Parts: sequence; structure tokens; C-alpha cells
Amino acid sequence: MKLVKSLVLEIISFLEENLKAKSEIEILKRIKEVSLTEDNFLNQVPNFPPKERALFDAISSIESSGLLGIKESLATVIGDLRWNIDDGNFYDKNSEIGESYLLGNMNCELIGPTLGAFRSNGLRLGLFLLEENIFYKDHKHKAAELYLNLTNSTQWRFADMIWEDKQAGSIVYNKPYDIHAMKVGSEPFLSIWCWPTNSDEKCILVPKKDWKKIEE
Ligand SMILES: [Fe+2]
Repeated sequence: MKLVKSLVLEIISFLEENLKAKSEIEILKRIKEVSLTEDNFLNQVPNFPPKERALFDAISSIESSGLLGIKESLATVIGDLRWNIDDGNFYDKNSEIGESYLLGNMNCELIGPTLGAFRSNGLRLGLFLLEENIFYKDHKHKAAELYLNLTNSTQWRFADMIWEDKQAGSIVYNKPYDIHAMKVGSEPFLSIWCWPTNSDEKCILVPKKDWKKIEE
């Protein structure tokens, strides 16, 4: 329990120093309301990370001094975590989310209503990994969303805007139903991710004309 708690506290500490917008700080407030005590610890059975190589590559690529606390905590806690693969659970059946995403993602809930290491009333805080060269198609969801990116070389686009690079240490906040997509470069993508409310609502794909071209 102690190691998972340390990681959550490292994440909180980074967010406390780096969040500026009111809506982001509101999410942090919700995270801090979750009890990190023994009686709220769900003791998930740890498993071998299905994307172990990508995970270790991602962790070892973290160099920015502001993220070293999180990096060290992460490296220590890996053996205590329960990893899951989104095999379409977050999407409607037969959605076109695509094989690349389905075969290349992995997540772990540090806080969550059922899969979290610590129990919450709906808030999910976790780690989200995509292997290299994955296109995570444009989508939206009812939950507001906060990402703290731990790795470089992933591009994001929001609504119909152009692709932009997000570096390690960058924060992304999506309002409910904001459309977003990611293109992972030659290094795996690892981030901290949080859905403070409505975390049981499915994601909705938002088809774009250039999907085929990007996937070529
Ligand atoms: Fe999202």
C-alpha cells in the first residue's frame, strides 16, 4: 500500500506545483479528497505488465527534473500494480477504434471505483500507456479529463486543430465532450490520467476523413 500511496502523493505534488487553470485545480481537489488510508485500500492482485518492454522504455526515458519524483516512485511500485488492457470496454461494441489501439494499450488504476488500488466514488486516476507508432483516433466522452504526460514524442489534436507536440511534463485538460486524438511517435507514450466524474460513461468515436491516410 505504501508504494502506491507514495506514487499518488508524488502525482499530487507535481500537479499542485504545475496546475494553473481553475478547472484543472478542481480535478486536483477531487483527487485529494480520496482517502489514502489502509481501510480504503482494495489490494488488487498485482500482475505482470502486459506491455512490460514499452513500460520500462517509457519510464527510463523520463529525464525532466520535475518528473524525477514520479519516475522513482513508479519504478519502485511496478511489482505491486494491477494492469488492465482496454479491449474495447471503454467503447461501444463493434466500434472502429481499431486494432492498433486495442493491441497496444495498457492502463492501471491507482484510484478507481472497482479496479483502483484505492477506492473512490467514481473518480479514476491511473497510468495509461500506448506502445509506439499507435494512432488513437479522435474521440470524446462525458467525463472531463486531465492528462499529465510523462514521455515526449506524442502528438495531439483537439477538435479540428492541427497536430501539436506535447512534451514530458505537459498537462492536457479536456472539457466534457471535447474531441481529442493522439499519434504516438517512435517512443512509447506514458501518462497519468484522471477522470474525476462520469467515469463509467463510454467513449464515443468521432470519425475524421484522414484516418485512413494516417494509418497507412
Ligand atoms: Fe480522453
